[in-house]
Amino acid sequence: MDLVLSTSTKDQIQGLSKNLHDIYEEKLVVNKDLTRQLVSFQANKQTPVYRWFKYKEGFSAALIEYLLEKTCVRSGILLDPFAGAGTTVFIASRRGLDAVGIELLPIGYEVMKVRKAISNGGASKVRAAVGRWLAETPWRQENEKVAIQHLKITKGAYAEDTEALLAQYLRRIEREGDPVVQEALRFVALCVLESISFTRKDGQYLRWDHRSGRRAGKNTFDKGKIYSFEEAITNKLREIYEDLGQPSDLFGTNYVEARGHIELIKASVLEALPGHPSETFDGIVTSPPYCNRYDYTRTYALELALLGVDEEGVKALRQAMVSCTVENREKQPGNWGDRVEEALDAFNSQDLLQAIIRFLYEEKAANRLNNNGIPRMVRNYFLEMSLVIFECARVLKSGAPLVMVNDNVRYAGIDIPVDLILSEIARKAGLAVEKIWVLPRGKGNSSQQMGRHGRTELRKCVYIWRKL
Ligand SMILES: C[S@@+](CC[C@H](N)C(=O)[O-])C[C@H]1O[C@@H](n2cnc3c(N)ncnc32)[C@H](O)[C@@H]1O
Repeated sequence: MDLVLSTSTKDQIQGLSKNLHDIYEEKLVVNKDLTRQLVSFQANKQTPVYRWFKYKEGFSAALIEYLLEKTCVRSGILLDPFAGAGTTVFIASRRGLDAVGIELLPIGYEVMKVRKAISNGGASKVRAAVGRWLAETPWRQENEKVAIQHLKITKGAYAEDTEALLAQYLRRIEREGDPVVQEALRFVALCVLESISFTRKDGQYLRWDHRSGRRAGKNTFDKGKIYSFEEAITNKLREIYEDLGQPSDLFGTNYVEARGHIELIKASVLEALPGHPSETFDGIVTSPPYCNRYDYTRTYALELALLGVDEEGVKALRQAMVSCTVENREKQPGNWGDRVEEALDAFNSQDLLQAIIRFLYEEKAANRLNNNGIPRMVRNYFLEMSLVIFECARVLKSGAPLVMVNDNVRYAGIDIPVDLILSEIARKAGLAVEKIWVLPRGKGNSSQQMGRHGRTELRKCVYIWRKL
C-alpha cells in the first residue's frame, strides 16, 4: 500500500515539477560569468582582507561587486539577513552604501565585528600591534596559559605543544591594553584553528585526521599538512600586516576602509527582521543556509569553543538556525511579523512543495530514508524561508532587488527545485521574478544518493527578484 501511495505521489511530483519548470523556463538563464569560483569563497583566497578568515560557505567579494553592478544598486542601504563573515556588508560599505548584516552564528558575527572595528579607524593601531607581535613573538615568553575550553567534539583537536602555545598566545593578549587590539589578536588565532588542528571542516561534521589517534587503526583520513602554531600564526600575522598596509585603489578606497555605515545585528533573522520598519532597504543580497544537512555548529566547533560557547549554547544555536540539519525541530512561533499568515498560506498552498513533503513522510513511514529527520528538515526549511522571504519583501523599498544564492537538493531520489519553489513563494510575497541565473555547471548530490539513484546535475542558482 505504501509503495502504491509513494509511486503516485512521485508521479504527481513529476507533473507539478514540470509545470513549474514550464512557468519559469524563460527566467532560467545560464550565466557564464558565474563560475563556481566566483560564487564560492574560493575567489577570496587572493583578495586582501577577505582572505583572512576562511568562511567556506561565504561568497566572494567579486561576486557582490558584480551583483551590485548588474542590479544597479548604487546608493542607499543594503541588507544581508544571513551575513556570514560579512562579504555583502563590507563590499557595500566600500562602495559607499550603508549596510546592515544579521548573523546568528557567533563566529560569523565575531569576524564581522573585528573587521568593522578595523575598517572604522582601527587599521593603523591594529597594524602596529600585529607588526610588533610579528617582530617580538611575545607569546613565546609567556609563562601563564589560558585554559582552552573544549566541546565534546573538539577534545584532542590539537597536539599538546600546539595547544600549550595557543594557550600562551591567548594569555598574552590579555596583557594588551586596547580592547580593539585584543579582539584583533584573538581573531588572528581564530583564523588558524583549523590549520593547526587534526580536523577538517567537512560540512556536516569535523573530520578527524588519523594522526589525532581517534579511532586508531580504523581511520585513514589524512588532511595534509598540519601547521605548527608558530608557522600558522606568524603567516597569518604577516598576511594581516601586509593587507593593512595596502595602498588605496583608483577610487581612493581599499579593502580595509569602510565608507558607508555598517550595522551588525547578532540575532536570528526570524526574530530580528519583524521589528524593522517597512520599505527601508534599497537592496538585499544574501545566501541563506542551503537545505543540505550542513551543520554550521559542528563545522565551526573549534571556533565556537574558543569563543566560549558551551554544549548547551551549541544545541540552542543549532535549533535557532534556519532548519538545515536533520536535528532541527519545529521552532516555537515567536514574533514572526505581520505577514506570518500570508507566509504560511504561501507555504501551505505551494502544491509541488506539499507533494514533496508528503512523499518524504511516506518514504519515512516505509523505512526507506537514510535518515528519518529529512522530511521535518525539508518542511521546516521551506516554512522558515517563507517567513524570511515575506519579511524581506516587506522591508524592501518598491523597485529594490532581492538577490539570493542557493542550491537545489535531492532527497530519496527526488530533485527538489529550491529555486522554483522559493521563487513561487517570493512571487506571492510581492516580488517579481526577474531572472534565475543558473551556474554553468551544477553539482551532484551525496555519494549515497548517486549510488542509489544515479547521477544528475543539481542547479546552483542566483535568483534576482524585485519588489513590485
Ligand atoms: C551561506 S552562509 C552566508 C555566507 C555569507 N554570504 C558570506 O559571504 O560570508 C549562511 C549564513 O546564515 C546564517 N544563519 C543560519 N540561520 C540563521 C538565522 N536564523 N538567522 C541569522 N543567520 C542565520 C549561518 O550562520 C551562515 O553564516
